[in-house]
Amino acid sequence: MAKVKSKWVCQNCGYESAGYLGKCPECSSWGSFCEEVQSDLKPQNISPQGIVNDFKPELISDIKIGSEIRVSTNIFEFDRILGGGLVQGSIVLIAGDPGIGKSTILLQTSGQLAAQGQKILYVTAEESAGQLKLRADRLGVKENNIYIYPQTNLESIRAQIDELQPDTVVIDSIQAIYSQTVSSSAGSVSQIRECCNILMQIAKTKNITMLIIGHVTKDGNIAGPKILEHMVDVVVSFEGDKYKSYRMLRSMKNRFGNTSEVGIFEMGSNGLKEVKNPNELFLNERSQEAIPGTAIIVTNEGTRPLLVEIQALVGATPYPSPRRVANGVDFGRLLQILAVLEKRVGLNLSKQDVYVNVMGGIDVDEPSADLGIALAIATCARDVVVDSQTVIIGEIGLSGEIHPVNNIDKRLNEAVMSGFKKAIVPYANKDVIHNKIQIVPVKRLIDAISACISPQS
Ligand SMILES: Nc1ncnc2c1ncn2[C@@H]1O[C@H](COP(=O)(O)OP(=O)(O)OP(=O)(O)O)[C@@H](O)[C@H]1O
Ligand SMILES: [Mg+2]
Repeated sequence: MAKVKSKWVCQNCGYESAGYLGKCPECSSWGSFCEEVQSDLKPQNISPQGIVNDFKPELISDIKIGSEIRVSTNIFEFDRILGGGLVQGSIVLIAGDPGIGKSTILLQTSGQLAAQGQKILYVTAEESAGQLKLRADRLGVKENNIYIYPQTNLESIRAQIDELQPDTVVIDSIQAIYSQTVSSSAGSVSQIRECCNILMQIAKTKNITMLIIGHVTKDGNIAGPKILEHMVDVVVSFEGDKYKSYRMLRSMKNRFGNTSEVGIFEMGSNGLKEVKNPNELFLNERSQEAIPGTAIIVTNEGTRPLLVEIQALVGATPYPSPRRVANGVDFGRLLQILAVLEKRVGLNLSKQDVYVNVMGGIDVDEPSADLGIALAIATCARDVVVDSQTVIIGEIGLSGEIHPVNNIDKRLNEAVMSGFKKAIVPYANKDVIHNKIQIVPVKRLIDAISACISPQS
């Protein structure tokens, strides 16, 4: 009879203990420990001595790489975040909120790969084969070499992979599958770790591409142990406003390409469609007249510059302490910009509520957005406007100085393509030459405010 070992694992951070603990000593969460029982059943490819004979060390000069190492998904925006296509034998984790479109993008990708002659095994652990077929019909995925396999047991999935020899396997989702070697329930930290480990072995030994769907917790982190993100080659997060039709894929980790790349899609009844010109999407609702409290910035997402409108609302507070609300920008960053505006520019906001919003529902993490945020706040507080043909680029330091930003040429080209005539840029970027846009270099925040605002007509 197989011997069993039991341990208690924090479902929040993966901390292990021999007995139950009310509070996790690692992450301080309460009531997060679950018992996990491990049997001593060994995975099949390990000998009784524990030796795996799959690989032998090879000289680096003897290792052959095929010319077709990357496979295009034929979805340009997806290829972009993958660094040019799927690397055969890699593991890609796609995580996102419920209902954001994870199964949709992977079914569309499966269709595109199958059209190129690949054999796909689509493991649907959450939905039935019928439900998946309905979606495939709606998305127009008709290719014949996609095998749908409704299964949650990893050992059965492994057997099917051995039998079918697919080129790509889709796991929908890692939280819904379980391995017999771990007796805790599917979705637990140990199950996810074990299942991912086995899938990784399969991918690397058989050169099969694994596309794995992962859930996110309510704080927006990928559910399961942090080690999941370490094990896979590419981590893609699927973001977007569920109430709007566009969706954004962002690469958080990529062993084969640039990180922080974004791909922008629009969700429709026929599935996800690529958005060729995202600036139209983010700026099309913008009023052509300048309004106090708005500024256009050029943020750099991966290698792609994006024009985004920042809006601010500043008003006298009815509360004892003023409110600060940040939508789409980091809250700490907003507080820092407000402190610089108060101390270095003399704008008194201590009795004012400040709301900042990034239009289009996207998150702007880049420091080059600082100057745009500051100008949106300053113009709203003073009831003046930034010229509607001006873009604002620059990072603000604590003494009110403007720091240079990278990829300034690309940002300016993007602004010119969208019809902007003037750019406020950091002084250190003043050498950038562009004959289609007026460049105004600024050293300090106060200079930027006087350079770009005009009294409201
Ligand atoms: N007929 C339809 N027309 C337009 N959009 C649709 C239609 N059916 C579904 N959708 C869109 O697809 C989304 C669901 O996509 P999908 O099932 O791929 O999401 P998911 O991330 O896999 O969800 P889950 O976490 O439940 O597995 C819906 O939220 C909706 O936006
Ligand atoms: Mg799904």
